[in-house]
Amino acid sequence: MDLETFSPGSGLLEPRAALRSDAPALDLNGTWRFRLSPTANVPDDFAQPAFDDAGWDELPVPSHWNLHGHGAPAYTNVDFPIPVDPPHVPNENPTGDYRRVFDLPEGWTGGRLRFEGADSFARVWLNGHELGFWTGSRLPAEFDAGPYLRPGRNVLAVRVHQWSAASYLEDQDMWWLPGIFRDVTLTRSTADVFVRASYADGRGTLSFEGSGTLSVPELGVADLAPGAEVTLEAEPWTAETPRLYDAVLTLPEETVRLRVGFRTISIVDGVLLANGRPLLFKGVNRHEFHPESGRAVTYETMREDVLLMKRHNVNAVRTSHYPPHPDFLDLCDELGLWVVDECDLETHGFGEVGWRGNPTDDPRYADALLDRMRRMVERDKNHPSVIMWSLGNEAGVGRNLAVMSDWTRERDPSRPIHYEGDRSCAHTDVYSRMYASHAEVELIGRREEAPLDDPELDARRRGMPFMQCEYAHAMGNGPGGLAEYQELFEKYPRLAGGFIWEWIDHGLAHPEYEYAYGGDYGEPVHDSNFVIDGLVFPDRTPSPGLIDLKKVFEPVRFEFGDGVVRVVNGHGFADLSHLEFLATVEADGKTVAEHRLTVPAEGGEVKLPAATGPDPGSEVWLIVRAVLAADQPWAGAGHEVAWGQALLSPLVGEAVEGAPATWTAGLVRDGGEISVGESAFDLETGRLVRLFGVEVEGPRLGLWRAPTDNDTYGGLAGKWRGLGLHRLTHRVDEVEIGDALTVRTRVAPAATDLGLRATYTWTAAGAGLELTVDVEPEGDWADPIPRLGLDMTLPAGAVENVTWFGRGPGEAYPDTGMAARVGRWRASLDEFQTPYVFPQENGHRADVRWADFGAFTVRGFPVFGLTARPWSAFDLDRARHRPDLVPGERVHLGLDLAQQGIGTATCGPGALPAYDLRAGRVTFRLRFEPS
Ligand code: GAL
Repeated sequence: MDLETFSPGSGLLEPRAALRSDAPALDLNGTWRFRLSPTANVPDDFAQPAFDDAGWDELPVPSHWNLHGHGAPAYTNVDFPIPVDPPHVPNENPTGDYRRVFDLPEGWTGGRLRFEGADSFARVWLNGHELGFWTGSRLPAEFDAGPYLRPGRNVLAVRVHQWSAASYLEDQDMWWLPGIFRDVTLTRSTADVFVRASYADGRGTLSFEGSGTLSVPELGVADLAPGAEVTLEAEPWTAETPRLYDAVLTLPEETVRLRVGFRTISIVDGVLLANGRPLLFKGVNRHEFHPESGRAVTYETMREDVLLMKRHNVNAVRTSHYPPHPDFLDLCDELGLWVVDECDLETHGFGEVGWRGNPTDDPRYADALLDRMRRMVERDKNHPSVIMWSLGNEAGVGRNLAVMSDWTRERDPSRPIHYEGDRSCAHTDVYSRMYASHAEVELIGRREEAPLDDPELDARRRGMPFMQCEYAHAMGNGPGGLAEYQELFEKYPRLAGGFIWEWIDHGLAHPEYEYAYGGDYGEPVHDSNFVIDGLVFPDRTPSPGLIDLKKVFEPVRFEFGDGVVRVVNGHGFADLSHLEFLATVEADGKTVAEHRLTVPAEGGEVKLPAATGPDPGSEVWLIVRAVLAADQPWAGAGHEVAWGQALLSPLVGEAVEGAPATWTAGLVRDGGEISVGESAFDLETGRLVRLFGVEVEGPRLGLWRAPTDNDTYGGLAGKWRGLGLHRLTHRVDEVEIGDALTVRTRVAPAATDLGLRATYTWTAAGAGLELTVDVEPEGDWADPIPRLGLDMTLPAGAVENVTWFGRGPGEAYPDTGMAARVGRWRASLDEFQTPYVFPQENGHRADVRWADFGAFTVRGFPVFGLTARPWSAFDLDRARHRPDLVPGERVHLGLDLAQQGIGTATCGPGALPAYDLRAGRVTFRLRFEPS
């Protein structure tokens, strides 16, 4: 059966550039007739114009049929959901038949049918004539329609099979989503052109391959002939300064409008350069995704992605793991992003069978692999934003890599070649890795990495720039360790930065789960929530990871000294003249002064205004912000690009007086309770039962947090559960009333001799109560613990909003929260939660000096960490989807001394050792005051 052919297609026209031409074109998107069959063995009589499709359904094109009620989506990461038996495919092979009737405008002759993307094997007929078939889901295909077009009514028929021999080349980590999911057009354009626009020594050089003549009016270039070259004064294109020049290609039958950007990518002494200057990727991996429409994305969605990236200081995109919709690259040219354009190739599932039969090394697949590379390069060759070609992702090693690479090098020597899967780098120009640890990245930065066996290849690789095509896996809460990676990237010239995995959570909109992930459609083989690993939630709301990333990627740094701030320009190409600098003085979180700073365009040391708080006991911070001075195409004037903060006084908590009043004053014993003012303790257990009139449980020692994905996949959560840290017992050994109320306890899980001695000492402090907790571990606590804090609950409704002075507004853990600055913040209980699609620990606010819950205020000495939730950590732990979390009858507060770091162990290293939380002897002090 031809679904099992190794051939990539038949009847196809030569690939060419995606161009904007004035040649007539007919948009064939819209409502098509559609029929789904469970197998491929269905008669193809539907392709005949006379076929009656009245009984068929309707389906929009572009779309995926399984997001429109025909079958269901399925998610796998590495595993193939079909037996690994190339080139064979299962009998169960969802097959979608499409029909579209269109009227040809009067006088129309000739034309090409162009399909921008169909997943995964498609055959096409026009008016009953078979034009051919194609594979390569995310690549264009063009057929000559001319001979078969008729005046008036025409019938286009397409049959799309989900599985074919080509499926073995498309094992990317994403939903399996078949169908015609990109645009379909009938076009009379036949133009192709390869514009070469380079930049060196302040001048641009322009030439092109193709036919016709090229003009760039703004540069005075008129009617340039193919092969002719001009060098002229031009501004360079960079992602920071995306200068484009409008160009016109004039052909006898059509006129093509292009935008030309002058730029040169080179590698000198192992350093990646753009226009002769080091190029540092502050990148993300982007899949095309929308929660409603899958990989069928609109222009607005693509634009939103680019705008969001630009606004978060992202400067680069790897189009993981296939060429994006062509419009996306136009947006990258226009708004400015460096692009690593990746071929539609991944054979990862062969890794599960020891790479036996891997198409990458199977000569029968050579044509198909080369075809994919050619179709990408030809389509995207004119984009200044595209600065590197990637052969694909996780496709193992093999001879076909050479076939792809050799052709590409010859066709386009101006762009380096990337591929991560072959550590020898035999076919690439850059050394690329994924998820290498900080330590390894540092070794590579120093060119001290472990050698390859082959000395020649080793020497070659050692001379290459290094990039992490994936790092910092943004799954769930995290990623941690971003700042430390960035420090390395900025320290060693060989390191060209990297690309976070990944841009968006691929949660599919779901009536019950809100967002679905693997397994939610009953897939027998799936990878659960591994598809929920983005910097933005499925609806593109930034997650804390993206907010942190913006901080880490800031192109301006502030170094504070005595009365001065050094402003460091971290742009690669632009100076600071597009920015305005504002300084704000805040006392106890309230603005007391604002100034504008005059900063030289190249940066430098700037004197700071004198700043003191209104009263000597206040905590005074200076905040310096760099904002856009004028509107940019990607953000408005005033948009904050970077900030820094410096403390000008002692922390407030440190200034709070030490010795509290004695406990016995005002103490009343009443039955089983002992009360002081509106607060009361249980005499037997020593537990606080009422706090300023509010009925409370706790505070008592807690170690548990709902494991993050990183805790789980990194193995820590398993150890914690094994130890029983989620089911601690609390034994009260002694309640002593003297100058203080002292409660001695032992906190321990069952079935082990590990434990913690916890002594709670309560004293009166003015109108409030002060609590000191002394913790002393017993036994051998070998592994980091989730957290060390106090758990406390209140009746629902007792806390509606939290106002705090500390870091905010968002969450922060030991190795995350770089974007959280000290200030006075307020959030409703709802806003206090970070709605991770797969529920887990979240929402921890760090370095809180005080928090006002409405009913009372908690003060730290000097600080504490805070979570506040309408459900418990155990509810959070049990929840699998957002709707599982329903506010209960209690509000749960976590008053923390410390939390374990987050790391990025879902893929990559766990928390760095400095962020591990070890059980140790500690003392922890808090004061409770009426609000
Ligand atoms: C990488 C892969 C990505 C993704 C990631 C895990 O190995 O290249 O496509 O699967 O792991 O989320």
